[in-house]
Amino acid sequence: MDLLKTAAKKGAFLAPLAGISDLPFRLISRTQGCSLAYTEMISANGLVRETARTYEYLKMNIDDHPLGVQIFGADPQIMAEAAGIVADKGVDLIDINMGCPVRKVIKTGAGAVLLKDPALCARIIEAVKKAVSIPVTVKIRSGWNRSSINAVEIARIAEDCCADAVTVHARTADQGYSGKANWKIIAEVKKAVKIPVIGNGDIRQPLDVVKMLSETDCDAVMVGRGALGNPWIFKGINQLFNNQALDYLPTLKQRMEMIENHWKMEVKFLGLKVADKSFHKHILWYTKGLDNSHKFRENIGKLKKDEGLLQLLKDYFRSLEEA
Ligand SMILES: Cc1cc2nc3c(=O)[nH]c(=O)nc-3n(C[C@H](O)[C@H](O)[C@H](O)COP(=O)(O)O)c2cc1C
Repeated sequence: MDLLKTAAKKGAFLAPLAGISDLPFRLISRTQGCSLAYTEMISANGLVRETARTYEYLKMNIDDHPLGVQIFGADPQIMAEAAGIVADKGVDLIDINMGCPVRKVIKTGAGAVLLKDPALCARIIEAVKKAVSIPVTVKIRSGWNRSSINAVEIARIAEDCCADAVTVHARTADQGYSGKANWKIIAEVKKAVKIPVIGNGDIRQPLDVVKMLSETDCDAVMVGRGALGNPWIFKGINQLFNNQALDYLPTLKQRMEMIENHWKMEVKFLGLKVADKSFHKHILWYTKGLDNSHKFRENIGKLKKDEGLLQLLKDYFRSLEEA
């Protein structure tokens, strides 16, 4: 799959992140060298029923490529129909969510609970593959829990059903997002299939990528939480890929400019109302670990809306520069 191989050589992928990997965040990540980005999981049912809110998650633009759109659902026919709708929007690939552990999702039979039903996984992947001509990737976990690790089995099924790649988030579903990712599972999957394997879990700094690639031999790496408030991680990864010295951490000025730019994009692409609600968390991530950030965080916590937020932010950064 040329698209994936080319992207894998260029840099790391941005993970699907609900409430986070929207158009502005994907564009920001791309400016720093992210070579392929995924939307957050989008309900196949919502797409087929044409729920307006669901379509909001499909916001993309010409600079937002290569783009993977992740869909979730439990019914092969609905998943196939949803994949067709998404493919018609001109996206680059479809990703099937088989790893979400959130109750709201698994109680519908979708997400990680599918790992318990390999036959249904096969039917879903087959149906989606049949419905579209663009590549289809599948994102799985190590297994449902410690006593049912079956990533290799599901990856083999994905390969048999002609999926173009498999992403392994090396945690079990019942781990949620805590505990350490067990990269050995990624290595096992890589040995078991010929399709590209994308490794995911616990890439927190650029050097982790080197470690993951050497320990697992995976074909590409995907970054999730390591990119929160830290899109520069993609820049560092690119530097390593190009045998350059690591020099990716931003100055205070660059950090402030990134935050302002991100805010402007949120307003431009999502509208002020949505930006007002959603940007707060990004500010907390961008300022995590900076001097006196607890005081600043306390102050922004007191704001009713994000009104005055940028001013507070500028004052805070000025105080950091003057210190
Ligand atoms: C807030 C949040 C939202 C997420 N949303 C999705 C999602 O929509 N689809 C998905 O497949 N995984 C989702 N994930 C999982 C990530 O894609 C990734 O697999 C996981 O965070 C492990 O990678 P990391 O250790 O680099 O964060 C989410 C994770 C977090 C923390």
